Amino acid sequence: MSLKSLSKSDAPKNITNSEKKIGDNDFIISKTNKKGKIIYCNEIFTEMSGYNASDLIGANHNLIRHPDMPKITYKIAWDLIQKKKEFFGFVKNLMKDGGYYWVFAYITADLDSSGNIISYTSVRRKSPQSAIDAIAPVYKLLIDAERSGGMEASEKLLADFLAEKNMSYEELVTALQLGAK
Ligand SMILES: Cc1cc2nc3c(=O)[nH]c(=O)nc-3n(C[C@H](O)[C@H](O)[C@H](O)COP(=O)(O)O)c2cc1C
Repeated sequence: MSLKSLSKSDAPKNITNSEKKIGDNDFIISKTNKKGKIIYCNEIFTEMSGYNASDLIGANHNLIRHPDMPKITYKIAWDLIQKKKEFFGFVKNLMKDGGYYWVFAYITADLDSSGNIISYTSVRRKSPQSAIDAIAPVYKLLIDAERSGGMEASEKLLADFLAEKNMSYEELVTALQLGAK
């Protein structure tokens, strides 16, 4: 059992192209405190990420953030969950061995009896390959935009992309998860 929780500097530097597929009936579950530090994870989480629960508890959730993920995804997520709204999205996560796994993620705030946020919970499941194939190139464009023009450029690119499809972010994500092209 580790005495000190892991931090982003402990994440693997050797990113590989090795993909682990989540099982059809698997759910990866974690809970964080209000700052995004992991306070609970289920067994499937440890199996998929490659870390022990003792490494994960107390670690910032960004430990498993993959460099192929655009910042804007997490901005959308945090903006929604801090307003007690639900987030849905496709996430590529980084495993301890440098590999990755894709999931369809749901994040929501946990409230006390007075309606105050006390923690956050995320449940993730398998996403259809068609959704991953559709979203991965969009994420690449968003990352390029973030590199050259920051979050503003990324936000504009996403807004233009959605306007062209005549869809909201939620509608796009739902359609992709349902397997629509
Ligand atoms: C309940 C919950 C679950 C989260 N799950 C993930 C996750 O699986 N992968 C991930 O990269 N970020 C996840 N995040 C978002 C992270 O907190 C963080 O915003 C993200 O990794 C980007 O971190 P960075 O801005 O420090 O790079 C989660 C946040 C919450 C509240």
